[in-house]
Amino acid sequence: MALAHPRVYVYIQLPGSFDWVPCASLVVREPGANLFEGTFTYGQRYLKRSGVVALDPFHLPLQEAPHRVTRLKGIPGAVRDASPDAWGRRVIQAKLHRPDADIGETEYLLHGPDDAAGNLRFGLTRDPAPHPRKINRTHQLQALIDASQKLDQDGTLPWELLESLEPGTRMGGARPKVSIEDEQRIWLAKFPEESDRHNWQRIEYATLELARAAGLDVCRARIERVGTQDVLMLERFDREWNPDRRACARRGFVSGLTVLDAEDGITGRERWSYPLLADELRRWSRDPQADRRELFRRMVFNAMVTNTDDHPRNHALLAAGSGWRLSPAYDLVPQAQMSLERRDLALTVGRFGRAASLYNLLSQTTPFGLSQEAAQAEIDRMLDVVRGWRDRYRSHGVDQRGLDMLERAILPPSFFAMEAPQAIEP
Ligand SMILES: Nc1ncnc2c1ncn2[C@@H]1O[C@H](COP(=O)(O)OP(=O)(O)O)[C@@H](O)[C@H]1O
Ligand SMILES: [Mg+2]
Repeated sequence: MALAHPRVYVYIQLPGSFDWVPCASLVVREPGANLFEGTFTYGQRYLKRSGVVALDPFHLPLQEAPHRVTRLKGIPGAVRDASPDAWGRRVIQAKLHRPDADIGETEYLLHGPDDAAGNLRFGLTRDPAPHPRKINRTHQLQALIDASQKLDQDGTLPWELLESLEPGTRMGGARPKVSIEDEQRIWLAKFPEESDRHNWQRIEYATLELARAAGLDVCRARIERVGTQDVLMLERFDREWNPDRRACARRGFVSGLTVLDAEDGITGRERWSYPLLADELRRWSRDPQADRRELFRRMVFNAMVTNTDDHPRNHALLAAGSGWRLSPAYDLVPQAQMSLERRDLALTVGRFGRAASLYNLLSQTTPFGLSQEAAQAEIDRMLDVVRGWRDRYRSHGVDQRGLDMLERAILPPSFFAMEAPQAIEP
């Protein structure tokens, strides 16, 4: 049964602590069809505590008065970032035996295993329930892959598997994935899908390593062979292993969508923009100069490899002390496209919109704190590395069919265009 407007309590693990403390409550009402009004209120006791932090310093500053939220179905961005996305939602639908249309946003917050991104948890009582520390281990990977493929085939999950293995996740994104603990680290494991025509785990792995070689700050990754399949293991950057406690501390996490205060539907994408995100970094980041330069590199890299799935949830900031820093890069996957003339990234690049070409990448470099010359030098340095992509992908085990497909994605002629086609003059 769907609960009518439950009061959801938000718990936070404060920096430098393993304790969960209640920090706020959230009630979402639906005053009309498809109209949502969320009321997010920090707790009085939380506000009086020392060393507390805002979930989002600019859109949810610490204050007694409630914050009203109408976007994102009434869920504040920083809270929504800890809620499951496409894959996690499918697991919860199977678990509840109910279709998506029947499950409210607050229910998604309340259900599912406890491995949300960042440092938040949710519950229906003022005080948090004891924290179940149950994270899958590497030896369970085969069973987890099987379970995820069963979910793909017929939308069902064997209950026993769900109970014992928790093959769900609150991480965002669409590919099957779970959190795995091993070697005193927490990893996000991305699985193959039965319908895959290429080994996307190896392709993504090779792309992450190419980006690292090109000078980007990239999350640590490795391939784990499971039977005949490959799993991509990404070390979770929002968890920090503490050897004394033999546990992971959590770091605050906000997506680019939250930082941009943007919508994620078809409409409301006006704010999906690299220059705007760079502007936001000026106030969010503890090192705006370094982070804006890094963001420029990521935009250029995405253009170089035609990673057109670079939407705002594929960018993030992590809490760092009392402030924030750009997270390591993740979810870098080339998309083979047919168009030879023009390719568009998901975010605005420069004065010529989203075009993934040099004329656009170099059209507006000041938001990134770069002169034209400095920007050009960054690009040249990256090109030196990315030009050697074939050998790198081959050495990471990408097969010839994969390489042939990638020919249409990496450094396409459209990337090198120095002049905008007439039709898209500003
Ligand atoms: N290394 C990581 N550490 C922590 N969180 C991560 C890491 N990589 C990805 N994430 C989070 O998990 C989500 C899903 O991962 P992603 O690689 O984007 O998968 P998908 O291909 O399904 O979109 C991301 O949006 C991000 O919030
Ligand atoms: Mg993603």
